[in-house]
Amino acid sequence: MNWNTHTIALGGTRYPYFYGHECMGRIIDSIAGYDADRFIVVTDDNVLALHGESLLPRLGEHAPVQVLSLPAGDGMKALPNLAAHLEQAIASGATRRSVVIAFGGGVPGNLAGVVAALLFRGVRLVHIPTTTVAAMDSVISLKQAINSGSGKNHIGTYHTPEAVYLDVALLRTLEGKQLRSGLCEATKNCLAIRPQSISDLRRVLADGDLASPSTLLWLLEESLEAKISVTERDRYEQKAGLILEYGHTVGHAVEICDQRLRGAEGISHGEAVMFGMLAAARISAAVGGLTQDDVSMHDELAYALGAPVTVPDGLSIADVVNAVRLDNKRGYLPVSAGEAAMVVLDELGKPMGSRDLPLVPVPMDLVEETVAGLRVDRHGLSLQH
Ligand SMILES: NC(=O)c1ccc[n+]([C@@H]2O[C@H](COP(=O)([O-])OP(=O)(O)OC[C@H]3O[C@@H](n4cnc5c(N)ncnc54)[C@H](O)[C@@H]3O)[C@@H](O)[C@H]2O)c1
Repeated sequence: MNWNTHTIALGGTRYPYFYGHECMGRIIDSIAGYDADRFIVVTDDNVLALHGESLLPRLGEHAPVQVLSLPAGDGMKALPNLAAHLEQAIASGATRRSVVIAFGGGVPGNLAGVVAALLFRGVRLVHIPTTTVAAMDSVISLKQAINSGSGKNHIGTYHTPEAVYLDVALLRTLEGKQLRSGLCEATKNCLAIRPQSISDLRRVLADGDLASPSTLLWLLEESLEAKISVTERDRYEQKAGLILEYGHTVGHAVEICDQRLRGAEGISHGEAVMFGMLAAARISAAVGGLTQDDVSMHDELAYALGAPVTVPDGLSIADVVNAVRLDNKRGYLPVSAGEAAMVVLDELGKPMGSRDLPLVPVPMDLVEETVAGLRVDRHGLSLQH
C-alpha cells in the first residue's frame, strides 16, 4: 500500500487530499478519528453494490451508519432528492456532530456536498471519490451544486470538505466511458492550463492501459497541480478559476440534451467536455486565437481518448444551441442575447479576456455554425475544420 498527501489550496482555504492504492483500511482509520456521532453516506446504487462492502461494515464499527442511496445518474442531483435526503438524515437522528460521506462519483459527491452544507447550516463533509471525474475534478473544489429543471448546477453553494480520500483500487471497476470521463477533464487541464504536460499526456494515452494505478496516479497528480495553480488565487472559481470551464459551454449543453434523450446511457460528463473543447478550439481559431495545429492537437487527443468527436446521434443543433443560451456563465460577463460567454484560448494554456476573467463574448451564430460543423454529415464525414 502506498499513501500520499497533497494539500488542496483554494484561496485561503486548505484541506488534505490523501491518495493511494489498496488503502481502504487506512482511509477508514482516518475517518474514525473525526469522532462523529453518525456517518451519513450519500451514494448511488451502483457504487453501493460494487464497493459498499469495502467501506460500510468497517465504518459501522466506529459510529452508526446511515446510507442514502439512489439510482445512479445526473437526475439524482435534483431538489426532491435533496429534500428527501435532508429529511431522512434529520429524522434518523443526525446532529451537528454527524459527518456526511460522499461515496461515489461527481453526482453523489455534489448532492452530498449540498446536503452537508445545508444540514444544520453546515456539517462536516468527507469525499471518497470512486470515479475519475470525482477524483480528478469535482472534489478539488468548494462548489456543491444540484441541477434545476432547466440547467445543470443552477442550485448550490460553497462548502469546504474536511478531506478527500482516494483509493485508486476503487476505480478498477469503472467501465471505459466513465474511466475516460475524468481523463478528458485531465486533458482539458493540460490544454487550457499546463500545455507543458501535453507531451507526457500523449505518452500516457499511447500506453493504452488507462486503468493502471500508476497511470491514474500520474493523471491525478497532474490534475491537482493544474487545478490548484488557478484556484489557489480564486477559491470560488469565479475569476481566474473560470479557465476550468474550458469546453464546458458547449459540453454542458450537449450533456444535458443527451441526458434528456438517453439518460445515464448517454455521453459522460468528461466526454461532453472533450466534445465541447473541440468546439471551443474551433471558435478560438475562428476569432484569431489557436492555430489549426492546435485544433488538430485537440482532435488527436479526443481520438486517443476514444471520446465522441461529433454531435451525438439524435441531438438537434437547435436544442444544443438553446441549452448554450441557458449556460450559467452568463452572469460572470454581461453579454447580449446574441452572444455566449465562453472560455476561448489565445494559445494553448493562455485564455483570451483577462487573467482575472478568462471569458469573452462569442456570437451565438458562430457557436451554432461550429456545432453544426461537428455533426456527422450524410456522407458520414466528421471533424470539418
Ligand atoms: N466542481 C464540481 O463540483 C464539479 C466538477 C466536475 C464535475 N462535476 C459534476 O460531476 C458529475 C459527473 O460526475 P461523474 O462522471 O463521476 O458521474 P456519476 O457520479 O454519475 O458516475 C458515473 C457512473 O459511474 C458509476 N460509478 C461510480 N463509481 C464507480 C466505480 N468505481 N465502478 C463502476 N461504476 C462506478 C456511477 O454509478 C454512475 O453510473 C456531473 O454532475 C458534474 O456536474 C462537478
